[in-house]
Amino acid sequence: MKNIKTILTLSAMSLALGACSTGLDKSRNLGNPNVTGNTLAQQVCSVCHGGIGNDVNGNSVNPRYPKLAGQQKEYLVAEMNEFHNHTRKDPMAQAMMWGIARNFTPKQIDELANFYSNQKPIPDSGQKAALVAEGDKIFHEGVLDKGVPACMGCHGANAEGNGPIPRLASQHADYIYKQLSVFNTDEVYTEGKENVPDSDLERPQGAVMEGIAHGLTEQQRRAMGAYLSSLH
Ligand code: HEC
Ligand code: HEC
Repeated sequence: MKNIKTILTLSAMSLALGACSTGLDKSRNLGNPNVTGNTLAQQVCSVCHGGIGNDVNGNSVNPRYPKLAGQQKEYLVAEMNEFHNHTRKDPMAQAMMWGIARNFTPKQIDELANFYSNQKPIPDSGQKAALVAEGDKIFHEGVLDKGVPACMGCHGANAEGNGPIPRLASQHADYIYKQLSVFNTDEVYTEGKENVPDSDLERPQGAVMEGIAHGLTEQQRRAMGAYLSSLH
């Protein structure tokens, strides 16, 4: 009885990951430290982050899943470690990435980051021109009366990122908006509480982003998404 239950559970699990041969089953094993990062990227991560069929690796279609293609290697390593160690704890990170990252080895993290940082990012199209123009201005000039600095000062002239500072160019507008809202909520969370340690934040490495996101209205956060997602 127990065996049948196990078999049923196992086949349900492989069905959940899509139809596959026995060989692929093995390479999809997130608990096997000998599976290479490149194989994991193609067999596991591609389900959400893009790369299945005619899709291009790391360019997800659904904006719920961030694009990883062309992302800074150092940033990718940092985020994977944060999911593994549960320090990045916004609700979607907990729900979607903690389980995936549970058994990552440092070697797999390095290989995965290498793989995705070397893929070509593809921008989205069809954004509203007025929103793009508003985002463009804030990216280069900030919002002076709200104390918001120009994003380009840290994220680079073309939003290409730099080491631990993420690339934002070509990222999905909805994902940009959602993360700005995470940083914004972190600020609300700390309001009135003195000396809240960064480790209590949902994204502790993004402490610098809290005040910045807090200075942007909802419409401005949408504008940042529209502008950045259109960039090559
Ligand atoms: C079931 C869907 C799913 C799978 C499979 C998946 N991810 Fe994710 N991943 C997500 C979601 C959702 C987020 C965004 C979390 C958030 O909003 O905070 C994310 C975020 C990330 C980020 C952070 C990106 C950023 O810009 O901050 C990295 C890095 C990442 N995933 C790597 C991977 C790797 C490597 C794999 C394969 C080993 C993988 N993911 C598999 C859903 C998935
Ligand atoms: C002082 C430097 C600095 C400035 C200025 C700055 N950022 Fe950031 N930003 C960061 C750092 C560092 C991170 C990475 C946080 C982390 O690792 O969790 C980040 C992360 C982000 C993310 C999350 C990306 C992802 O893939 O999850 C978004 C979106 C973002 N910034 C947007 C902006 C926008 C829009 C502006 C301008 C209004 C801006 N940033 C200005 C330093 C900065």
